[in-house]
Amino acid sequence: MARSSFLVYYFSRRRFSESFRRFFFMVTCLSLTTSLFILFYISSTSKLFIQPEQTHFLVKSSLGSSSISPPIPTHQIIKYSVQNPRFTFESVEASKSLILRVNGSEGVEKRWSLGTLKPIGSNGNYANNEVFHDRDIFIEDYGEMNRSFKIYVYPHKKDDPFANALLPVKFKPGGNYASESYFKKALMKSHFITKDPAEADLFFLPFSIATLRYDPRVGVGGIQDFIRAYIYNISQNYPYWNRSGGADHFYIACHSIGRSAMEKVEKVKFNAIQVVCSSSYFLSGYVAHKDASLPQIWPRQGYQPYLASSKRKKLAFFAGSVNSPVRKKLLEVWRNDSEIAVHFGRLKTPYSDELLGSKFCLHVKGFEVNTARIGDAIYYGCVPLIIANHYDLPFADILNWKSFSLVVDTFDIPLLKKILHGISSEEYEVLHSNVLKVRKHFQWHLSPLDYDAFYMVMYELWLRRNSVRVESF
Ligand SMILES: *[C@@H]1O[C@H](CO)[C@@H](O)[C@H](O)[C@H]1NC(C)=O
Ligand SMILES: *[C@@H]1O[C@H](CO)[C@@H](O)[C@H](O)[C@H]1NC(C)=O
Ligand SMILES: *[C@@H]1O[C@H](CO)[C@@H](O)[C@H](O)[C@H]1NC(C)=O
Ligand SMILES: *[C@@H]1O[C@H](CO)[C@@H](O)[C@H](O)[C@H]1NC(C)=O
Ligand SMILES: *[C@@H]1O[C@H](CO)[C@@H](O)[C@H](O)[C@H]1NC(C)=O
Repeated sequence: MARSSFLVYYFSRRRFSESFRRFFFMVTCLSLTTSLFILFYISSTSKLFIQPEQTHFLVKSSLGSSSISPPIPTHQIIKYSVQNPRFTFESVEASKSLILRVNGSEGVEKRWSLGTLKPIGSNGNYANNEVFHDRDIFIEDYGEMNRSFKIYVYPHKKDDPFANALLPVKFKPGGNYASESYFKKALMKSHFITKDPAEADLFFLPFSIATLRYDPRVGVGGIQDFIRAYIYNISQNYPYWNRSGGADHFYIACHSIGRSAMEKVEKVKFNAIQVVCSSSYFLSGYVAHKDASLPQIWPRQGYQPYLASSKRKKLAFFAGSVNSPVRKKLLEVWRNDSEIAVHFGRLKTPYSDELLGSKFCLHVKGFEVNTARIGDAIYYGCVPLIIANHYDLPFADILNWKSFSLVVDTFDIPLLKKILHGISSEEYEVLHSNVLKVRKHFQWHLSPLDYDAFYMVMYELWLRRNSVRVESF
């Protein structure tokens, strides 16, 4: 039996009662005439729904599943014989770990350190500290993707006047939009490409928004017309676009200009899969769940730097320009603080030293949210502290962001220090070691390595491939 086939899920009753309250709140809004009365009624009775915090651990294994309650004490050795008598659950203080044993199968056991099970912070939001939502399912499904996923790329003639904006990508990936070129280069060399459209799961639209932007024949003003002409051309010359209305098609764009590029072809906006760096719910062109967030990653070669969490002397760090109300607020509250270092304008010390020497690195919504700061923080092993409401984090379908970052509401900027001080050093240790675990998923390579950024994007596409069923007619 595989040792790794156990998973622990954590449930909190409180979340259920919260959604109950939200439901009642909606009802309240609808019944305008009695709204005041009902509001009062709800606020006075909703306490009935709040039960004392009760935790359950669901232990899943190939032998079946069991739930364990009440919460596991950390101060004594207690054996839990769970509902399924084949499991023994044991909490051992000395080793700070929790051990699951299976009766009758000597040596089959699974250990978790208690820190990874305990809810972090006061609101209990950080309970599941596995970096994957479900590692086993991901690994299995990834293998399936690797074996069978097929992409058809629309070709173009060598003498096409816009060949420069189509494939192949000739230059070495660099700068802010490197993610786009890395992906394209890796895709074209990969085993996912098929020349036979009949076996394709998805169709790739290979135009480069970033190149079009700098092409004097197109420019910022001409991109929308170019895209319209491009889609018109493929819909005339191939049957695949019309067949699905574009739903099994995708493109990739890291430049923020891409957010309005599809305005003249609604089918791209509403049907195709857009893999973009500007994945904010506030952008009219971005549709959560259908589209996917592409991490903006500055290309860095060589070894990933390491600094132990105990050597990270600064609490929190931010550098950037004041180009949004959120950043303005951050500046207002924290500009003279000795622990939360916010720098606006030029930094006096090297950026990399700050990222390496800080415990938390802030990613704050600016004019755009698609900054490379999250990628920078992860590269330097700094726990991302994200202040950008309604922003789709990269690979959020796969990675459990709460296990390696903090997501703080914009309104909580004044509480930042309180929130950070509320995180114990053990809890920080878990977050930090998880950042190191996810680093490889945020790294590009010219020849992709398993589970690196290229494969993660491929997996995000794979998850979206079946959202449409194409009828042949
Ligand atoms: C498994 O171990 C528990 C605790 O030692 C014991 O109560 C239970 O009877 C055992 N079950 C089996 C099937 O041996
Ligand atoms: C994915 O496929 C490539 C090419 O066939 C192979 O080299 C690699 O080992 C595969 N990875 C996994 C995890 O299956
Ligand atoms: C569309 O096709 C026409 C005619 O072949 C060509 O001139 C034009 O450049 C194409 N446009 C795009 C955006 O591919
Ligand atoms: C796709 O639909 C468009 C608009 O209805 C039509 O002009 C075009 O001929 C169709 N393409 C194909 C290949 O049938
Ligand atoms: C920070 O310091 C500057 C200059 O010393 C001062 O003008 C400002 O009021 C201070 N801001 C806060 C929030 O304490």
